Amino acid sequence: MPRRIAILGSTGSIGRNALRVIDALGPDYVVVALSAHTSVELLAEQAKQFEPRFVAVSSSDHARRLRALMDGQKAEILVGPESLTELAQSDDVDTVLTAVVGAAGLPSALAAARCGKRLAIANKEPLAIAGELLTRIAREHGSTLLPVDSEHSAVFQAMQSGLVAEVRKIILTASGGPFRGASPDQLEEVTLEQALAHPVWRMGPKITIDSATMMNKALEIIEARWLFDVPVDRIEVLIHPESIVHSLVEFVDGSVVAQLGRPDMCLPIQYALTYPRRVAGLSQPLKLDEIGCLRFERPEPETFRALTLAYEVARTGGTAPVVFNAANEAAVEAFLAGRIRFVQIMDLVERCLDEHNVKQRNVSLEELLDADGWARRLVERRLTLERMIDY
Ligand SMILES: NC(=O)c1ccc[n+]([C@@H]2O[C@H](COP(=O)([O-])OP(=O)(O)OC[C@H]3O[C@@H](n4cnc5c(N)ncnc54)[C@H](OP(=O)(O)O)[C@@H]3O)[C@@H](O)[C@H]2O)c1
Repeated sequence: MPRRIAILGSTGSIGRNALRVIDALGPDYVVVALSAHTSVELLAEQAKQFEPRFVAVSSSDHARRLRALMDGQKAEILVGPESLTELAQSDDVDTVLTAVVGAAGLPSALAAARCGKRLAIANKEPLAIAGELLTRIAREHGSTLLPVDSEHSAVFQAMQSGLVAEVRKIILTASGGPFRGASPDQLEEVTLEQALAHPVWRMGPKITIDSATMMNKALEIIEARWLFDVPVDRIEVLIHPESIVHSLVEFVDGSVVAQLGRPDMCLPIQYALTYPRRVAGLSQPLKLDEIGCLRFERPEPETFRALTLAYEVARTGGTAPVVFNAANEAAVEAFLAGRIRFVQIMDLVERCLDEHNVKQRNVSLEELLDADGWARRLVERRLTLERMIDY
C-alpha cells in the first residue's frame, strides 16, 4: 500500500523540496493533498504535476484564481485556514508533512495527531508553543511524530543508539547565521539584506531572520525538549559553521553519537517519509576529506539573547512559549516590512514576556490562542506608539 501524503505548505522551501523527494521516491509515495497560503500559480503547477485529490488555499479570492488556473483538473479545492485541518484529518491521507510557517500550523498538527496520523514535522512552532499538548495527544492517539528539522532528525537518529533514560545531554548544532562572531553593538546597524543572507541554508524569509537572531535555535531547544522528553537544562547549543554535524547526543557512558550529512533538507525530509527504512535518494554523499575541518564554538549569549530567553521560557512553560513565539512572529513580520530595526525584534519579544501574566498549568488550546493574540496585539500597539513618538 503506498504512503498517502498531504503536504501542508507545499509552495514553501520545505514543501518544494518534499515534492522533489517524493518524485524521486517513486510510486510507493503518493501526494494526496497540497496547500498554499497565496502562491496559487505555483500550487496550480504542482497540482498539474502531482495530481493530488485535494488542494487548499487560505482565501476565496485565491481559490477563484486557483480554479481558473486549474481548469480541466479534477482536484477538489478547499478554502480557508480550517482547510488545513480538513486535509490533516482526511481518511485519504495517512502521512501529514506540516511545512506551514509559524503558529498557523498548530490546529492542523493537532488534528493530524488526534487522528493518529504519521506526522512529519518541519513546522517547529506548534511543538515549541504547544509541545505538551501536541505530544500528549499524539501519545493518546497513536500518532508517530517524525522530525524534519535537520537537527531534530539528527537527534532522532542518534537516539536510536540508547534509551531516553541513558541520555546525558542533547547538543543541537547551529550554523551561527550571518552574524556569527558579531558583537551586540554591531547588530545595531544590521540591514534586512544582511539578515536575509544566510551563509549555508536557503530557506523561507521568516526562518532566515530567525536564524540571524538565533530565535530559530531557541524554538528548536523547546521543540527538542518535547520531541525527546528531555529536561531543557540537558539541551545545549554549539555553533558549527560548516553545518555538517546536524546534532549530537551524549549518553551516560560518555559516548557521543552524531548524524552527519551535507546541509541539504532533502535528507531529513526523506527520512521522515521513509522511516524506519533508509533508501537511496537525492542527497549527495558526504566527502569529509574535502571538508577537512569541523569547528565547534559556544554561542555568545549577549549577541544571541533569544537563546537565554528560550531556557527561561521553557522552564516557565504554560503560556510563556506561545507569547515568546507570537511576539517574535509579529516582530519579524515588522522587520521584513521595514518597520523596525533588527535589534528591536528581540526588544519586542522581551517586552511581551515581561508584561505577560503566565498561566502555567492545564493550559487549553483556547488559552494558548488567546495568549498568542495578546502578544501580537501588544507588539502592534508598541509599534504604533513608537511611530507616534517618532512624529
Ligand atoms: N526551510 C528550511 O530549510 C527549514 C528547515 C527546518 C525547519 N523549517 C521550518 O519549516 C516551516 C516552513 O519553512 P519554510 O522555510 O519552508 O517556509 P516558507 O518557504 O515561508 O513556506 C511556508 C509555506 O507555508 C505557507 N503558509 C504561509 N503562511 C501560511 C498561513 N498563514 N496559512 C497557511 N499556509 C501558510 C506558504 O504558502 P505561500 O507560498 O502561498 O505563502 C508556504 O507554502 C517553518 O516552520 C520553518 O521553521 C524550515
